[in-house]
Amino acid sequence: MESAELKTEAARAALSEVESGMRLGIGTGSTAEAFVHLLAEKVRSGMEIIGVPTSERTAQLCEKLSIPLSDLERTPHLDLTVDGADEIDGSLALIKGGGGALLREKIVAAASDRMIVIADASKLVETLGQYPLPIEVNLFGLGATSRAIERAADELELTGPVSLRMTDGEAFVTDGGHYIMDASFGRIPDTRALSNALYAIPGVVEHGLFLGLASKAFVAGSEGINILERS
Ligand code: A5P
Repeated sequence: MESAELKTEAARAALSEVESGMRLGIGTGSTAEAFVHLLAEKVRSGMEIIGVPTSERTAQLCEKLSIPLSDLERTPHLDLTVDGADEIDGSLALIKGGGGALLREKIVAAASDRMIVIADASKLVETLGQYPLPIEVNLFGLGATSRAIERAADELELTGPVSLRMTDGEAFVTDGGHYIMDASFGRIPDTRALSNALYAIPGVVEHGLFLGLASKAFVAGSEGINILERS
């Protein structure tokens, strides 16, 4: 099966967890978009949900497909968030932010009773870090923040370039108006230590390590759906 079909299968599996009346966090990325299309079919056939999108891009798609939307001001507590991931390990720790939406994704996931991850099997890894870790940073003091990230990484014996994300020759700007540094460490054996070290740097707004947030993952492979659960 093609990767796009696997993403749709994972999305379909997550849809079975959605019930009428739910307040739903809606993720960002190609897998989340497959979920949005399936969700729109349910809404058209009468399912009543209210969605909180994790990015402007997802909001636009939901509006186009007539999925009713809210925000965390009017709907501060969500039942479930369904989102994709760039990497997932066996304990359901994630790297997210490949699409640049990590800040809103983490705020929405943290406001939800449950977070379900949907992905194709290529996202499943033994140790996080092969995918460059996105770190959202304030524009002010970029040089100092970048240096502080490198020093924090050094102390944890993490090596590899930390580079400013660019698109079409310009620095990529997030929905929140920040930049992203992508840290190519290769392996992150102690994700909690790195998370704490990054949170201690004032210019770091958020990072793409999602620890203790996801409770279930539907991972679609050629053999079918692998369900991972965190107790
Ligand atoms: C968006 O910022 C990301 O966290 C996405 O959820 C992640 O990059 C997965 O995207 P795909 O589903 O497109 O692989």
